[in-house]
This record gives sequence, structure tokens and C-alpha cells, in this order.
Amino acid sequence: SKRISIAIDGPAAAGKSTVAKIVAEKLSYIYIDTGAMYRALTYKAIQKNASLEDEASLMEILNNTVIELQPGEKGQLIYLDGLDVTNEIRTSEVTNSVSIVSMHKLVREEMVLRQQSFALNGGVVMDGRDIGTHVLPHAEVKIFLLASVDERAVRRHNENIQKGYPSDLEKLKEEISLRDKLDSEREVAPLKKADDAKEIDTTSLSICQVVDKIMDLAIERI
Ligand code: C5P
Repeated sequence: SKRISIAIDGPAAAGKSTVAKIVAEKLSYIYIDTGAMYRALTYKAIQKNASLEDEASLMEILNNTVIELQPGEKGQLIYLDGLDVTNEIRTSEVTNSVSIVSMHKLVREEMVLRQQSFALNGGVVMDGRDIGTHVLPHAEVKIFLLASVDERAVRRHNENIQKGYPSDLEKLKEEISLRDKLDSEREVAPLKKADDAKEIDTTSLSICQVVDKIMDLAIERI
């Protein structure tokens, strides 16, 4: 059977990575979390006290940065210059800064090249904001996952509580809305449904139901 590419885009906290991981596992494909790459760069730039508005300094950092995604026992591990930063890139400081870093054209061009190089042989499930529109425009399956802001904030809130992290639902709603606004209104490769993407509103669907819908579309194309 053919090893296809599956692109999953959508707004923040819509459940993209959760379903992408399960679909990848079912198909024995690799899963690539492109948001983690922007987060890793953001984390390093903050560590270095770089201005997140300054494209040239971000590029200087990115050109000297190795970002690796590796399967681990409890999900994907993110390595930054050889160090495991899987947890560090999920802090609210990084989360609330990453949309500034990801606005820059040169940063995106370099990230897209790296992401495309991971997907050269097919057999990938990739999630992000611009996968169907820019990174893998020829992906056999394109999904655009949606859910209401309230539902996404509640899901993230419950996830935080389960992990024992502090969490404020109203603040989460504001942060998610702001990130969506920045990601959809930026000039370069904004968050947007590809014309040929299948939209799935997950507001009242279970993870399993979303996975089944994507698997049906994938199996048609394999
Ligand atoms: O998916 P995640 O929420 O981890 O993404 C973090 C941020 O990285 C997004 O809010 C967006 O600013 C940026 N991003 C992007 N393009 C992608 C993936 C993520 O601009 N393909």
C-alpha cells in the first residue's frame, strides 16, 4: 500500500496533536508536531534574551539550532541542540510568545524546509497551522480541525488539572483567542483552511470519533 501524507491544521488546542498521534500510530507513520519546532526556537530565543520582534537575531539563532523530534515511550520528545526540552516548550511563557516568533517570513521559510525534509518519503502525519496550505500542499489527506473557543479552553483546563498544573479557565480562553487572532491575521502563511481540506468540528465529538473520520479518509487514499 501507498505511504501517504496527512496534514492536520487548525486553531490552538483543537486536539490536533492528540488525534494526529493516534492516527500515526494506527498507520505506523511518523508524527511531526510542527508547533513544537516554533516553540523550541521561541524557548531558545527567550533563554538568549533575544528580541522576538527581531527577525535577523532569530535567524542567527535558528541557523545554529538543531531541532529533533523523536518518538518516546510517553509520546514525542523534542530535542533542542541535543537536550530534551519536551516540557520546557509547553510553559505559558513560551505558549504566549510563540506567535510572535512564528510571524517572521524567514523563520517560516526555514521551518518549512526542515518540515518538508522530514516528510520526503511520505508516511507522515503532520500537524500545525499551514501544513495543508504551504508545507505539504500535495498531501493526500488534509484536515482542518475546529472547536469552539469555550470547548478548547475547557479541554486545556482539564488537561492542566489532570497534570497537576495551575490553570485559570478565563485566562486560557483569552490566551487561546489571542493566539488564534495572531496566527490567523499574520501576513505570512496564516492559519487558514486549505481549499481542499476537510473541515471537522470536534466541539461535540469524542477523540475516537475524530480519529475514525480521519482514518476513513486516509484508507480511501492508501
Ligand atoms: O500547535 P502549537 O499550539 O504547539 O503551535 C504553537 C504556535 O506555533 C502556534 O500558535 C503558531 O504561532 C505556531 N505555528 C505556526 N505554524 C505551524 C505550527 C505552529 O505558525 N505550522
